[in-house]
Amino acid sequence: MSATNNLLDDLIVQARLAGQRAYCPYSAFRVGAAVWTAGGRTFAGCNVENASYGLTMCAERNAIFQMVVAGETTFDLIVVYTPTPELTAPCGACRQVLNEFNPNAEIVCVCDGDQVLRTTVRDLLPCAFGPGNLG
Ligand code: THU
Repeated sequence: MSATNNLLDDLIVQARLAGQRAYCPYSAFRVGAAVWTAGGRTFAGCNVENASYGLTMCAERNAIFQMVVAGETTFDLIVVYTPTPELTAPCGACRQVLNEFNPNAEIVCVCDGDQVLRTTVRDLLPCAFGPGNLG
């Protein structure tokens, strides 16, 4: 799938809004994400940190989990936004979770600078372990 500009613009807005709600008192690193599902719905997420640092949850996974709670298990596109001069690509744990729900999904990473990364889950996580490995 290749996102239309309108859809992409809307997802960027949703990701930016979600990033404004990031709970990140420890890192002060805000991340917002917005997924576009196969059913045509949008779900957003932000990073949520914790005083027990290891319990932190990334924006991408929170967006995906919102999708699952709403009854969908396939997405076509995720936008990741950080209010930084350079873009941020999803961490390894998020790549694994994204892979679960569509290795062919498109990932678009944007920031406050000019950088944009357009890629796919498969390209960011080659030779992935996934549902198919469990038979
Ligand atoms: N973070 C995300 O939300 N997504 C990523 O892909 C990378 C990292 C968050 C986790 C933590 O709250 C902060 O960024 C710094 O690591």
